[in-house]
Amino acid sequence: MSKFFDALAGTPNQSANPYLTDSLDAPLAAQSAVPADSTASSASPDDPSRRALLAGSGAASVAALAGLPACAPLLGGGPLVGFEPIASSAEDAVRVPRGYDARVLVAWGDPIGDARGMPAFRPDASNSAAEQELQSGTHHDGMHFFALPAGSSNSSHGLLVMNHEYPDNGALFPDGTANWSLDKVRKSQAAVGCSVQEVRLQDGRWQLVRPSRFARRIHANTPMQIGGPAAGHPGMRTAHSPSGRESLGTFNNCANGFTPWGTYLTCEENFSFHFKPAADATKFEERYELSPKVRFSFRWGEADPRFDVARSRNEPNHFGWVVEIDPHDPQSVPVKRTALGRFSHEGATVVECADGRVAVYSGDDRAFEYIYKFVSSRPWNRQDRAANRTLLDEGTLYVGRFNADGSGEWLELIHGRNGLTAENGFDSQAAVVMFARAAADQVGATKMDRPEWIARHPLSGDMYCTLTNNTARGRPGREGPNAANPRAPNPYGHIIRWSEQGDHAATRFRWEIFALAGDPKHENAKVRGNLQGDLYASPDGLVIDKRGVLWVQTDVSPSVLLRKDYAIYGNNQLLAVDPVSRQAQRFLTGPRGCEVTGTCFTPDGRTMFVNIQHPGEVGAGGTDPGNPRKLSNWPDFDPRGRPRSATVVVRRGDGGVIGS
Ligand code: FEO
Ligand code: CA
Ligand code: CA
Ligand code: CA
Repeated sequence: MSKFFDALAGTPNQSANPYLTDSLDAPLAAQSAVPADSTASSASPDDPSRRALLAGSGAASVAALAGLPACAPLLGGGPLVGFEPIASSAEDAVRVPRGYDARVLVAWGDPIGDARGMPAFRPDASNSAAEQELQSGTHHDGMHFFALPAGSSNSSHGLLVMNHEYPDNGALFPDGTANWSLDKVRKSQAAVGCSVQEVRLQDGRWQLVRPSRFARRIHANTPMQIGGPAAGHPGMRTAHSPSGRESLGTFNNCANGFTPWGTYLTCEENFSFHFKPAADATKFEERYELSPKVRFSFRWGEADPRFDVARSRNEPNHFGWVVEIDPHDPQSVPVKRTALGRFSHEGATVVECADGRVAVYSGDDRAFEYIYKFVSSRPWNRQDRAANRTLLDEGTLYVGRFNADGSGEWLELIHGRNGLTAENGFDSQAAVVMFARAAADQVGATKMDRPEWIARHPLSGDMYCTLTNNTARGRPGREGPNAANPRAPNPYGHIIRWSEQGDHAATRFRWEIFALAGDPKHENAKVRGNLQGDLYASPDGLVIDKRGVLWVQTDVSPSVLLRKDYAIYGNNQLLAVDPVSRQAQRFLTGPRGCEVTGTCFTPDGRTMFVNIQHPGEVGAGGTDPGNPRKLSNWPDFDPRGRPRSATVVVRRGDGGVIGS
């Protein structure tokens, strides 16, 4: 969430959890865990280091347990990445390699195909809130393609489900943020959440199916239910939810996940900025940035009492969850899965354990926050989809500790254990999940540099997590480096990977630094990186395709993009990274001021969908018509219009597998 880059120093994790350099000889010791031969840029598909990765101890056992074929797709014929990488770019355009084609599929304001109405987008942003509820939201983010028919591997027809992370209030109205009112708040609330859209490949081009019986907007006022330990807790009771079991809406939906039973998981990240904090904020509220010291706000609380904490004290407890949505049933009620904990969820990566239980990995994307894992109590049911309806309501939540010797532990967050007791403020498991950050402080988890997306390598079983940056690390009064977060400050971010010691239900793992982003030649030795090939910074979106290629998407803040003292030049980008050689090849560059995110594929790997979020963003002023620093007018270039977040479809001219 780039516009808050500069606000991160105010993050309130002030817990006394040890940081691991206390026992380290050198803060960069973790890098020695990188095998020397794996940095060779010439690693071929049958390079011994590639075989070592795929046959590695814990990883191999995970792959074997999952019944994966032993590396054949990776090792069989030809280099893993086969396109000609492109140059970095400062242009107001989407660029892709020669032989590829990128087209806009759906932009903010386009009607999604709801049969109740398909209002056209008005370039002056004069659509009403009611119209916005029938149109694509803004700030496209995490996204997944569900093939139709459900459960098939059809790659020419499906449901494209995506998040709309946050509103750009300046761009949403003809007069920007002037004359702020409840009407403006309602449109802002209608512009966020999720979209379900039916898409079809016809005559070589992807199109929205409009009207569609599946088309659906889920937004900040959509009725929802609350499942799991927090449901019904007194802290969840509000004016609109006297039982504490119903809820209204979802917002700040960042990354995502999807389950093997065909549902979509949308993740509520920086929800606190939608609230007007109370002047007498409690310790636990401050731990969630509901503090009068936080200056940035989306201004909903100025006109809608639900978002004024002094008037709706428990309302913020309804946000910061993972929400499960059934995209195949437009009448279904989304459910907040509280067993997975409440924090700034980046994503929710679902992985099957050996016995059919599911593990869900999730990062808390704030500076000095944690990486979590949930393991369900029951295996999922392949025969009876309905039996999985409450699967994510029961299980064990863990938080990660990354030890300096390369070992790691998943620490239980269970009421009554590890100090999670009433004396320490946790009267129940409901309190543990509602205040998961405080619970994680209590058990001694490792403070990370803003954990973003987490992905599983399909062949090795290794888990990868992007840590986007942390400019506050090492500042006076703040924590210094630790083995897993070795740079202070860390303006360029890094990627970590680990291998569970057993299957994905294991409580121990081995970890290493995969990549330190930034330019290795940059004069600032403290932040020197170890990248191979094309350079990048602030890794955020991360998806690993079926062939095993890492697709890294970047979210460098517009406040430092193109700045001369920043080591990485150019707009945000999408790179293909070889997991063995660590060589990165630039595949796509976005327009000015945007973040690149949401990458997903059709099952055949021949279509890639990518989201371009907030083109033209220049900081807190956003794209307000009154903002003189108009960076971008992508994709319409309409002089009366404004930049629009959009989904881009990437195909190869010859119809081949993307990236091969
Ligand atoms: Fe919304 Fe962590 O990016
Ligand atoms: Ca974002
Ligand atoms: Ca980000
Ligand atoms: Ca993100």
